[in-house]
Amino acid sequence: MRNKIVVGNWKMNLGRSECHKLVDDILDSLSDNKTKIVFAPPFIYLDYVSGLCLNRENMTVAAQNCSSYDNGAYTGEISAKMLNSIEVRYVILGHSERRQYFNDTDEVLKEKVERAIDNNLTVIFCCGEEISQRESNQHFDVIKQQLDSTIFKLDINDFKNIIIAYEPIWAIGTGKTASSDQAQEMHSFIRSLVNKRYDKITGTNTSILYGGSCKPVNAKDLFSKPDIDGGLIGGASLTSDDFVSIINSF
Ligand code: PGA
Repeated sequence: MRNKIVVGNWKMNLGRSECHKLVDDILDSLSDNKTKIVFAPPFIYLDYVSGLCLNRENMTVAAQNCSSYDNGAYTGEISAKMLNSIEVRYVILGHSERRQYFNDTDEVLKEKVERAIDNNLTVIFCCGEEISQRESNQHFDVIKQQLDSTIFKLDINDFKNIIIAYEPIWAIGTGKTASSDQAQEMHSFIRSLVNKRYDKITGTNTSILYGGSCKPVNAKDLFSKPDIDGGLIGGASLTSDDFVSIINSF
């Protein structure tokens, strides 16, 4: 069966001592919680935060990106192989901020997904529509196209290492959340696409997370839906009380 997962995407926030305090506070408050928890700090803190999670088998770290290249003269890039070498097991790919500001097109993302899978990383793959696309009723087509041109190129074995995060762009950092019914409708659609592309067992086993202004006030409602298996949390993952409260919403 699929896992319940909560991922904290710290984006480009926090210094090292703030990372330490945040993780310590969360660990203190969550001693007997078994939900899978993944912290996604900036690259330079991955090893450090990973060390703070030692001995907590339900906690680990994710990178926020990786290169589409294997290795070589690509100044400033971080490869999937390097992540693997420091025992990072997860990477977020396809986040709308990367698509919008850093030219992560579907073609580039397809390459990044392949590099990640080749290096034994589990990919948390983000997809989501803009508000104009939802208002013109194109949101299902947009999501299908984003998946068809990237992760659905994988064979069934490799697809086992994919977690999908549905993140409507209009809900990210805006305080506007998709209603739990809107999110459930899209998650169920995404699962039906996985069933069709692969098979029903794969669809049943794929975790689909919701992201976009997920907060303590709405997490319980969202997580109570049958096809919502957890959250990819931005702003609220930077405050221990909020993040813990979201995790405790299961
Ligand atoms: P938010 O961000 O929770 O601040 O809306 C979510 C995300 O970008 O993953």
